[in-house]
Amino acid sequence: MTKNTAPQKRTNPRQKPGFNVRECSVAGVGSYLPERVLTNAELEKIVETSDDWITSRTGIKERRIAAVNEYTSDLAAQAAQRALENAGMTADQIDLIIVATITPDMLFPSTACLVQQKIGAKRAVAFDIEAACSGFIFALEIAQQFVMSHTYDTVLVIGAEKLSSIIDWTDRNTCVLFGDGAGAAILQAKSGGHGLLTTCMGSDGSKGEMLCMPAGGSRCPASVDSVASRLHYLRMDGKETFKNAVNAMLSAAQEALRRCNLEIGQIKCVIPHQANLRIVDAVGDRLGAKPEQVFINLHKYGNTSAASVAIALDEAVREGRVERGDLVLLIVFGAGLTWGAAVIEW
Ligand code: UT7
Repeated sequence: MTKNTAPQKRTNPRQKPGFNVRECSVAGVGSYLPERVLTNAELEKIVETSDDWITSRTGIKERRIAAVNEYTSDLAAQAAQRALENAGMTADQIDLIIVATITPDMLFPSTACLVQQKIGAKRAVAFDIEAACSGFIFALEIAQQFVMSHTYDTVLVIGAEKLSSIIDWTDRNTCVLFGDGAGAAILQAKSGGHGLLTTCMGSDGSKGEMLCMPAGGSRCPASVDSVASRLHYLRMDGKETFKNAVNAMLSAAQEALRRCNLEIGQIKCVIPHQANLRIVDAVGDRLGAKPEQVFINLHKYGNTSAASVAIALDEAVREGRVERGDLVLLIVFGAGLTWGAAVIEW
């Protein structure tokens, strides 16, 4: 039986008796997609594929591609500005910036530091985290810990990717799947009421080769050979990734609901990582979610990795799919392997 869905004061599952943690609210969200749209029809001219294959196997119809001189930090800064506007805040109020990305502008300095400069968040501390497509939820968890422990009051969390820069445009197995974009959320200490109810994360390093970019790090620094061997591009065992994604996303979502003592019927909007419509459908079905509960925008943007659920959350709010008091469930999965889920009371 579905429980009463009326807004109510919830107990934060992280609140330990006698430990003075603070609540963490989501003060604003924003997203940014580059203007250039790359359609399936255009991909038909680049690799041996078809709109029919891409649509039936993935649900993706088009994706956005950043301009040559538009970098991950630019996408991130645009999303951040929109989140600040949405929150009615200015950049000088931000204490901490965390950017989740696998496509930083450079290996160092961090993209977060570049964003700090671009938006003028002079007071902020800034750093990147890398958990591939799970990065936004991992960053939310880190931000939540800083807020709950009274270390920082206001944290800007961004998931941003220019995946087009690491796509092998001769590999039809991967080039049809990904796109560029950024999403941001501002977390803030809040007395009374709730925002971020829980986050949970998981990792399995034994399956790292399943989805990776082999070169460019200390194991295989850039060389003439590494470039000739196309090792600076994303590689994926699609079938294995698919299987692992469904199972891991399902168990992360169930764990997040269990921690908050919630049933799926109480969730207004389920926002899964937007990698493949078949994965989204399988996770939704197994969770027992109704189709109208599940938010989907992958047909427009493809898989934007760490930006995926951040963009979707912003769109769900702007489209009125999520209103004050509603419960939202975010679910992610990515390279590492990594996975996670979060419950937000909006
Ligand atoms: O963000 C991290 C999470 N990412 C994911 O979760 C992605 C997970 N994986 C997937 O979404 C799917 O596995 C894919 C969409 C990547 C592939 O779908 P599939 O149904 O698993 O296809 P497949 O790998 O079994 O390939 C079937 C056939 C192959 O041909 P053969 O070997 O059977 O002759 C592929 O070569 O489809 C072929 N194929 C294509 N054909 C036309 C692969 N890519 C394409 C393409 N166009 N773009």
